[in-house]
Order: sequence, then C-alpha cells, then structure tokens
Amino acid sequence: MRSNLKVIGLVLIIALVMGGLFAQGAKEAGVANKDKPLVWFNRQPSDPATGVIDMESMNWNPKTYYVGFDAAGGGAVQGKLITDYLASADPAKLDRNGDGIIGYVLCIGDVGHNDSKARTEGIRKALGTWNGSTEPSVSKEGSVVVGGRTMRVIELEGKAMTGTDGSTWNANAATEAMGGWATKFGNQIDMVVSNNDGMAMGSLQASNYPGVPIFGYDANADAIEAIGAGRLTGTVSQNVDAQAAGTLQVLRNLLDGLSGADVYTKGITVPDQWGNKITAPLDYWADVKAVMAANSGVDASNWNLYTEGTRDAGIKQSAAPKKRVLLTIYNASDNFLSSSYVPALNYYAPLLGIDLTIVQGDGQNESITLDRFTNLNSFDAYAINMVKTNSGPDYLDKLRY
Ligand code: BGC
Ligand code: CA
Repeated sequence: MRSNLKVIGLVLIIALVMGGLFAQGAKEAGVANKDKPLVWFNRQPSDPATGVIDMESMNWNPKTYYVGFDAAGGGAVQGKLITDYLASADPAKLDRNGDGIIGYVLCIGDVGHNDSKARTEGIRKALGTWNGSTEPSVSKEGSVVVGGRTMRVIELEGKAMTGTDGSTWNANAATEAMGGWATKFGNQIDMVVSNNDGMAMGSLQASNYPGVPIFGYDANADAIEAIGAGRLTGTVSQNVDAQAAGTLQVLRNLLDGLSGADVYTKGITVPDQWGNKITAPLDYWADVKAVMAANSGVDASNWNLYTEGTRDAGIKQSAAPKKRVLLTIYNASDNFLSSSYVPALNYYAPLLGIDLTIVQGDGQNESITLDRFTNLNSFDAYAINMVKTNSGPDYLDKLRY
C-alpha cells in the first residue's frame, strides 16, 4: 500500500514536470533563446580602453541592435554649451582671483565608458585643454573667449567619480571630491564641469561649494529644476524618451517579425503597423547596428521646454499582442537610469504591448545583474544594460543554450 502511494506520487511528479516543460515549449513556439531579439542599450558593447565597438556582441544574431545616442556629438554639444555661456559672461566676475586664467575641475563618470570619454573629450576640445587622451590627469593649457576677451584655461583636476563600493558615475564621490577641491584650490576654481547631472548635483551638495557656474549632462528632472532655480548653469538632453521608446520599438519590430530596414524605420521614421511613431529623430548607424538619438543643450533660456510631463504624444496604446521582455539595468542607484530612463520605459512599454520585467544590479560588477538575468526561456526578447561595456559575452553565454 505504502509503495503504491510512492509510485503514484512519483508518477504525479513526472507528469507535473513534463507538463511544465511542454507548456513552456509551446509558449516559445520553438524559438531558442539564442535566436530571440536582443537590444543592448545605454552602454554600448565596446572596449573600455579603446572604445572600439565589440562587433561580436553586436552580431550575436540578426536580431541584435544597440539603442543609444550620439555620444561624440553630445560631447561637442556640451562643449559648445559651455563656450556659448562663456562668450557672453563677464570676465571680471568669472575669473574669481583675477589671474587671467579660467580654472575648472572635471567630474568624470567612468574612464571605461565611451559616453563618459566622449564628454571629457568634447569639453576639453571646446576649452582647448584636450591633450589626446580622456585620462583624468591628461590635459594641457587651453584658451577660450570670455565676454570678448581671450583667456587662458586650466583644468585644475579631473577625477573619475568611483564610489567606495566601486560603482562609477557616483554622485556621493562627487560631493566629496568637490569639497576637497574647494579647499585645495580655493578661488582658482571658476567653473565646474561634469560628465553627468548626478555628479553635478552631487558637487552642488558640497557644503563649501564655491557658487561658480556648473554644467552637467542628461537633463534629469532635478537638474532641469536646478537650472530654473539658477543653481545649475546648463545640461544636455540626450533625449531619454526617444531612447527608451526606441529600445522598446526596435524590440517590438523584431517581435513582430520585421527584418532589414523595417527594424529601424517602423515606428521610428514612419508609423508602424499599430499606428505609432516616435516624434524625436533617431538615426541609424549601419556599421555598428545602432539606433541613435540626438542631443540638445539646455540652459536658462530653454529649460522650461524640458520639464517633466513631456512624454511623446506620437506613441499611443497599440493593439499589438503582448510580449514578454527581460531588461537589465547596470546599477539601481544610477541617477540617470533610475530617475529618467526607467520611468520612461515603464511609461512606453504597456503602450507598445510589452510586458517588461526589469532587473537591476549594483554597478560594481556584473554578478548581481547576471544572477538576475535568469528564467530566460520564459521571455520573448531581451534588453541589456551592462556594468562593464566589455561584458557582452557573459550575457551571451547565458543565452547560448
Ligand atoms: C548617462 C549617465 C549614466 C550612464 C550610465 C550615460 O549615458 O549620461 O548619466 O550614469 O549613462 O551608463
Ligand atoms: Ca582665475
């Protein structure tokens, strides 16, 4: 009697397991994970030292793309925003110690991230301090026109803002560095430039902040507000709505079975079959399979055009069939991703018929995000934001089987 019960139990367990497997197989209609759509976003698969794009990760399968923004163009926009500001500034007021030199300090996000590198380069080129490298300590004396007068420029110090936990683009590290700089350089500091808003806002938190002009990047809501309040001088919008909607639209197109140019034009340059089209321009860079948003400068003259509530009216509820997407975020406490990118994703995903599961890491190394990049069979597509730009193969290894 006892052994009969055991046999019945065993049969039941086998039946349950088989049933589960069968249901899953049926749901996926036989598509292997390695053949499903994959979009890398915000952190472009690339070599942290050289910035060269990792085309092996980009060519994982024909349904692999990158969605981001024009990083080099953005660096140039940030540089121009600063030189435009200086062009109409009063040299006597700006040059605090009156030595004829504009001294600035630079908050670097991540020396191994190509967005960060592009901004450092764009800033230094605009100020003439570019010396052929994006390393923190490599710069030369430059010159810039301030209120009609050509003045010397010196980068007093540049620093990669790495937190005590090892995470990059760290705002607390910027608060601390700024405090140190204010003490160390005193009124030699005439300006602060940052690779992003998170670190710029962090710098403003330093209790001894010198009250000089300060420039960030991202156009996060708190930064826009700070421009309105006259605390932050300028920032750059990388058009987060176009990027987040673009990431989802490319996935949608691939899940709808589109291929070739349809993947990066439908819903992007022309309406898709569901009647949606992203309003802001997104360009396609064929050599690196990238869909790229444009940047624009934001300052006291136009900040009110960038306040919250400016979601893209070109995207409405579509009748597209529901698809499940697993999406990773490299660091749950990254200011730009958590305050700008994720809210935009959560807004557009349901409209595009995408059932989004977001898993987030700690920005220190890949292990947490990789651990949470799991249950892969139950998703129809994937979107990945890595901790290190050369970690592509670690994710692909998990999709291989
Ligand atoms: C953003 C930064 C952000 C970084 C993270 C950049 O594109 O501008 O603010 O921290 O991405 O990957
Ligand atoms: Ca000076």
